[in-house]
Amino acid sequence: MDRFTTFGVGGKADIIAYPQDRADLRKIHKLAKEKGVSAFMIGLGSNLLVKDRGIRGVVISLSKGLRTIKTLPGDRLYCEAGLTLAGLAAFAANNGLGGLEFLSGVPGTVGGALRMNAGAFGGEIKDVIEDVSFMNCEGEIKTVYREDVSFSYREMQTGAEDTIISCTLALFKKDIKAIREEMKKIALLRSETQPLNKATAGSVFKNPPGNSAGRLIDEAGLKGVQVGQAKISTKHANFIENLGGASAADIMALMELMKDRVYKKSGISLEAEVKIVGQEDPNKIRVLQ
Ligand code: EPU
Repeated sequence: MDRFTTFGVGGKADIIAYPQDRADLRKIHKLAKEKGVSAFMIGLGSNLLVKDRGIRGVVISLSKGLRTIKTLPGDRLYCEAGLTLAGLAAFAANNGLGGLEFLSGVPGTVGGALRMNAGAFGGEIKDVIEDVSFMNCEGEIKTVYREDVSFSYREMQTGAEDTIISCTLALFKKDIKAIREEMKKIALLRSETQPLNKATAGSVFKNPPGNSAGRLIDEAGLKGVQVGQAKISTKHANFIENLGGASAADIMALMELMKDRVYKKSGISLEAEVKIVGQEDPNKIRVLQ
């Protein structure tokens, strides 16, 4: 899974499948159900920490299919879950539709962004959603309106067991030049504060209510601290960089250390923002003193 995640760590998956369209996805779900194999969806793997023994069952990546996007009347867009956020933001900009500028530079797919209610610079994907369509393991599709989907900070609560296949976004008319300028500004801000050219999974911890995980980790004096080949970024303390060849165990041990030191200093318990999945390799577990 190191090849399918931006962290660049993780053991093998039993099977990886790339459905090209809904019919493919339906077949994969059906087959997995028949064979009693569990299915795990990924997008671009930009918010995932896969453990060192990898993932049992089939990993389904929408990143090579389900990428249709089109405009709908009334400043709306229809897009499928496998499209990248970069592709979505560019399409909206080219069509003079504002409301997605905050996505500038966020890595991931539309499906992943919905599942995690991706957000940055004051915007969240939930704010522009009109409806979301899901496919269940029987291959049935249902569309749920925004008011019936429950979103919170970095989470979508509805349909956890189903695959997000598409959504409709409600945007607004905006001058193309103004959209591009806003996106450029955001991309610049991001590059000034985050280690973008490094192997990371974005923020490792959620911001505690009214506080900032990055500031708390920084104040605990942890910038630059390293476990194996995993290092706390010196640019932003809530990012862990894989310096090359880190194990998931290195990263998890570093996360434990961050949680522990922050708790001791501030009494605040940090909660992981990256999704941690898969099986641990008992030979790699690290226990820090
Ligand atoms: N700070 C420090 N030291 C650090 C890092 C940050 O003191 O090492 C301070 C900053 O000076 C600032 C505060 O902490 O006063 C907040 O930092 P920043 O503005 O960088 O934002 P953030 O809260 O750390 C959040 C999201 C990011 C998103 C940015 C921009 C979370 C956990 N993180 O970061 O999202 O890009 O805002 O809006 O909500 C992600 O989800 O993966 C992600 C990168």
